[in-house]
Amino acid sequence: MAQNHVTFLAMRDYAMNCSFSVAWLMAGACCINATFAAAPGDRIDNFRLLDQNGASHELRYLSDAKAVVLMVQGNGCPIVRQALPAFRELRDSYRSQGVEFLLVNSNLQDNRDAIAAEAKEFGIDIPILADDTQLVGEALGFERTAEVFVIDPKTWQLTYRGALDDRLDYEKQKPAPTRRYLADALDAMLAGQSVPLARTQTAGCLVNFPERTRGAAHAAISYSETIAPLLQKNCVACHRTGGVAPWAMTSYDMVRGFAPMIREVLRTKRMPPWHADSHYGHFVGDRSLSTAEVQTLVHWIEAGSPRGARPDPLLSQSAARTEWTLGTPDLVVEVPAFDVPATGVVNYQYPTLPNPVGHDAWVRAVEILPGDRSVVHHVLAGLDDPESKEARVGQLAAFGGYAPGKNAFFYPDDTGVLLRKDARLLFQMHYTPNGKSARDVTRVGYYFADTPPKHPLHLTFLFKGGLAIPPHAKAHTETVEFVYDRPVVVYTLMPHAHLRGKASRFTAIYPDGRQEILLNVPKYDFSWQTTYVLEEPKVFPAGTKVIFDMTWDNSAQNPANPDPDKTVRWGDQTWEEMNAGWIRFRYLDEGPDAAKTAEAR
Ligand code: HEC
Repeated sequence: MAQNHVTFLAMRDYAMNCSFSVAWLMAGACCINATFAAAPGDRIDNFRLLDQNGASHELRYLSDAKAVVLMVQGNGCPIVRQALPAFRELRDSYRSQGVEFLLVNSNLQDNRDAIAAEAKEFGIDIPILADDTQLVGEALGFERTAEVFVIDPKTWQLTYRGALDDRLDYEKQKPAPTRRYLADALDAMLAGQSVPLARTQTAGCLVNFPERTRGAAHAAISYSETIAPLLQKNCVACHRTGGVAPWAMTSYDMVRGFAPMIREVLRTKRMPPWHADSHYGHFVGDRSLSTAEVQTLVHWIEAGSPRGARPDPLLSQSAARTEWTLGTPDLVVEVPAFDVPATGVVNYQYPTLPNPVGHDAWVRAVEILPGDRSVVHHVLAGLDDPESKEARVGQLAAFGGYAPGKNAFFYPDDTGVLLRKDARLLFQMHYTPNGKSARDVTRVGYYFADTPPKHPLHLTFLFKGGLAIPPHAKAHTETVEFVYDRPVVVYTLMPHAHLRGKASRFTAIYPDGRQEILLNVPKYDFSWQTTYVLEEPKVFPAGTKVIFDMTWDNSAQNPANPDPDKTVRWGDQTWEEMNAGWIRFRYLDEGPDAAKTAEAR
């Protein structure tokens, strides 16, 4: 990352020495003002937004709906407030027929908290999606609040846009509508007929989209000075030759070719891969883009991905990168080789090795490099220490783990995990056969502290066995609660589920009753096993309760679901489920000597 940053600065210096005029002229010559305004018949692109409660909503997820109705909402607008009761009534009567109703707020002046407050004050029990980048409203051509958009999930075409009915107008309203445009449109769609009146005019408050008229400026966004550095800073670490991403950003031509796909992954918040809701807490290594960065990239793409005339920064990437993201380890251990068969199910393997350093050592990080990523599902690096009072599950992941997309990190300052002289290294290896036999030799790098840290680190493992996730459940939630009976400092949070994992949340309830959402993962993704390291560790007084919620999607709408007809129970394999929450912490009052007597659940 540091390396990237340097490249970025160097590029800027270079670019500033160049003249401005060529790119400017070229941009001016080709600028086409791409103003989007969806009309009935247009296909609506996918998007994913979070609502006022931090829940995720993706348009394409609603493919099993008969129709999707969006209404433009804005705080403080009297017309939309007056339209809401009728909208809710329609929701109530059409919901059972498979019609989805959502509100979308693209207002510049409304943020999540303000939207939640408006929802509370007006009793709005319909999700209000926060279009924080305005990209969805821009593309759909929102003009006024209270306008409704009806989408047919069979084709993703817009079938109706306009007023809900003819009751409302500025400062006057009829006692009852004489024309019910939205209901008529829905009735027609449910009857398999075309919508009788596909477009009407809406009264409502104008929504300000300052970027909408800036097409010329978007066409002048500099690839060399703005776009390429943005990609280098946020994407190239993975999207490089030999990186974990499937394609490398090695030139303008590559980026241009993938431009529509980049637009899609940004609109659906799939890339960069980062799954914590930025509304709650700050985490180390947050990969998400700022609102302005997303807008810049998408506007550049919508302007036709102009190249400009400057040199292409992506052509000169620093190729050499160490395979260890944390730097060269102090010790590299090879996990005993394992032959993975071509097919079948392999039980977890638990190889152990004697402590290779031959004396007590304090570990401050581990990084795990699987030998064959195509068959290594996950690895836990732990301890087998008969003298430790730590529970076995705590010992098993004492040092950390690997799963695809997992980040390696140094333990917090002044903390470490003790590897005693007579303890053994213990590994949990989960192999998944992939059609051809393979031999895996996984390497584990250990990073040691020169001096004993001030505090031993512990792990709380939150789980509830006895899972039974009903077939076809779109959202099944289980909650685990845990109370710390001594004051602790909490450093990291990690939710874990398998392929049906949908969302997760950690909440703290302090002894004074104050409630704080520590981490919200609105769209859990099994492919990205992230340990969320709190930027500011949290001190929990004794008596603080942690609530860990995990939600699964066992419906056919979950594309990763191996079998929506099954009742899913707890199990190690990915077609079974887990609700596992890990918290790394230290006791506030515990020094290094207490390490051997520590207790954790
Ligand atoms: C931490 C690594 C990582 C970072 C950072 C990252 N990507 Fe990706 N990207 C991946 C991986 C892995 C895939 C393929 C798997 C997937 O889609 O999750 C991918 C897939 C994609 C795809 C293709 C989607 C598909 O699967 O068809 C696009 C487009 C993309 N990334 C764009 C970006 C952009 C733009 C950025 C930066 C703003 C970015 N990525 C940052 C790892 C990364």
